[in-house]
Amino acid sequence: MAVLPQTLNLGLPAGIDIEKEITRLKREMNAVILAHFYQEGRIQDLADFVGDSLQLSQQAAATSADVIVFCGVLFMAETAKILNPGKLVLLPDLAAGCSLADGCPADEFAAFRARYPDHVSITYINCSAAVKALSDIICTSSNAEKIIGQIPPEQPILFAPDQHLGRFLMRKTGREMTLWTGSCMVHEQFSERKLLEMKEAHPLAKVLAHPECREAVLRHADYIGSTTGILKTARESAGTEFIVATETGILHQMQKECPGKTLIPAPNDGGCQWGEGGACSECPHMKLNTIEKLYVSMRDRTPEIQLDEDLRRRALRPIERMLEMS
Ligand code: 13P
Ligand code: SF4
Repeated sequence: MAVLPQTLNLGLPAGIDIEKEITRLKREMNAVILAHFYQEGRIQDLADFVGDSLQLSQQAAATSADVIVFCGVLFMAETAKILNPGKLVLLPDLAAGCSLADGCPADEFAAFRARYPDHVSITYINCSAAVKALSDIICTSSNAEKIIGQIPPEQPILFAPDQHLGRFLMRKTGREMTLWTGSCMVHEQFSERKLLEMKEAHPLAKVLAHPECREAVLRHADYIGSTTGILKTARESAGTEFIVATETGILHQMQKECPGKTLIPAPNDGGCQWGEGGACSECPHMKLNTIEKLYVSMRDRTPEIQLDEDLRRRALRPIERMLEMS
């Protein structure tokens, strides 16, 4: 039981047992709570399902709940709404964006596509609904290689918006792709120099990295993959010490699933650039959601994701292709 001493800023009664209230609301609303691994630990512990972007979209596609409460960022909640137009989809903080999505405006992406009319466009799920609607196939870090493998070798490919994931996929698949040059504000901060120092201090540690990291960091990794892949590798590996180069929220599940193993967050270049009190390598967008906002959004049934129906239909097809090809 967790009792909040001071919750007045959100209009919550003092002393409310927030976990209990969320569980009650979930039952009353017939809601499902989907949470990404980068959410705060208390949200992950309350969620019906915690996973990576692909798993969360698969869960959203399959749910029979009336309400989807999405604890992640906007592009993830939008994907759930695109798949479930008839359901109420809530995001505790509507301002929870993503630097990759923000760095790829739909009008500029349309112009990029127009420059390469013969290319098929495979777009990372970290983008707006409008960019999805302009894409041929959506992918995530856990299915991108498999999807690229299904594109005929002579077919040129545009890949957007993450250049680091794009280059990683080119190295992995041997396919040339034309890249949009976006990046993740969290993953591009990991420091190669400090990572090498850390490896020296922990010679037995395996480095697990998300493919959104720069190549200079990825080249020192023992495993590169999605958040679920990182978790699975730590769980199943005979190793007992891991340096983890992704957003630090993942450590919560990793600690639960890998008791007795040592998990060390990879060092970043900028220090704690999100200001006093902000932990290193935390996504400032993901961390906008809090358990208090989760409760309030369920109580008030807002903020909800709303999409223009024509846009939703156009964005649906490339997501369906992804789910078919995964
Ligand atoms: P995953 O699909 O690996 O969970 O990654 C999502 C993300 O936003 C990484 O920064
Ligand atoms: Fe976007 Fe990076 Fe945050 Fe993931 S960690 S949601 S890619 S800004």
